[in-house]
Amino acid sequence: MDYFITGGAGFIGSAVVDRFAPKNRVTVYDNLSSGRQEFISHHKGRKGFKFVKADLLDIEKLIKNMKGHDTVWHMAANPDIRKGTESTMLDLEQNTFATFNVLECARRADVKSVVFSSTSTVYGRAKKVPTHEDYGPLMPISLYGASKLACEALVSAYAELYGIRAYIYRFANIIGHRSTHGILFDLVQKLNCDPTQLEVLGDGNQRKSYLLVNECVDGMVYGFKNSKDKVNYFNLGSQDQISVKKIVKVLVDETKLKGVKINYTGGESGWKGDVPKFLLDTKKMSELGWKPKHNSEDAIRKAAKIVVDEYLKVC
Ligand SMILES: NC(=O)c1ccc[n+]([C@@H]2O[C@H](COP(=O)([O-])OP(=O)(O)OC[C@H]3O[C@@H](n4cnc5c(N)ncnc54)[C@H](O)[C@@H]3O)[C@@H](O)[C@H]2O)c1
Repeated sequence: MDYFITGGAGFIGSAVVDRFAPKNRVTVYDNLSSGRQEFISHHKGRKGFKFVKADLLDIEKLIKNMKGHDTVWHMAANPDIRKGTESTMLDLEQNTFATFNVLECARRADVKSVVFSSTSTVYGRAKKVPTHEDYGPLMPISLYGASKLACEALVSAYAELYGIRAYIYRFANIIGHRSTHGILFDLVQKLNCDPTQLEVLGDGNQRKSYLLVNECVDGMVYGFKNSKDKVNYFNLGSQDQISVKKIVKVLVDETKLKGVKINYTGGESGWKGDVPKFLLDTKKMSELGWKPKHNSEDAIRKAAKIVVDEYLKVC
């Protein structure tokens, strides 16, 4: 098969590329705004592998490069919720307009299926927890979540109108190898600046669900192969939560640093637009036949080790 992977030089996108590149034709389309060429450089020279450094907002380049592919995995987005709150056009442009371009080019290029990486933030502060895929109304509380919900709506309409089979995955927090953002990465960066103390956003009682990046890819691939509705939509996450306080403890233990003073900034949420507690209902995916092997705590332990190995500079 052949795969056109937007955001393929990013954290999750490069794990998707690793999965497909050995046996398939793969084109990575990425502007390297938050991705890194080194995440995919090991595929350079591989037969059928191509990297295009370009922007999704450049629709002419996008259509030219997408032509001839059957499947689009759209993993590109602005990953930073806080940045989108300050620059209010960012999520609209990088998520909603960019996704419109992807879908429009998929229509014109006669692409058969589109896989879209969505997020638990589309649910906002859901009243029902664990939150099922069919929960509603969906009321996001960040511009990032709102833009992703708009993307989902576009994906659904394009699927209905133009016969593109669609896959929408609403991810929990994804962690592991090559992460360049998120709680573990942020905390390690802070310890690199000052290993004696650690500022933690919020009161530490936030409780969220975490999934290892390879399991995220396993789940997406499983759904892609085994679900054949017009629009296939799934939550992807572990079936439990872990508190920020516990994550901080696991990470600091992993660094082997002694006497680190933890300073919580206070408040229920870490930042404006943050959903402090969430848990996805993952029954739909498990009924299809897939569930992750690790719970949130195991995933955090593994990812903390990886992030410390990859990024901690003070030893
Ligand atoms: N990491 C998570 O916990 C998480 C959770 C929920 C959803 N998601 C979604 O998963 C997807 C991948 O996220 P990630 O964590 O790997 O982020 P990432 O920042 O590592 O990857 C995004 C990639 O998209 C590229 N990109 C961004 N804008 C682009 C544009 N206009 N044109 C071309 N390329 C562009 C970036 O350079 C980067 O390589 C995103 O859609 C994100 O919203 C991630």
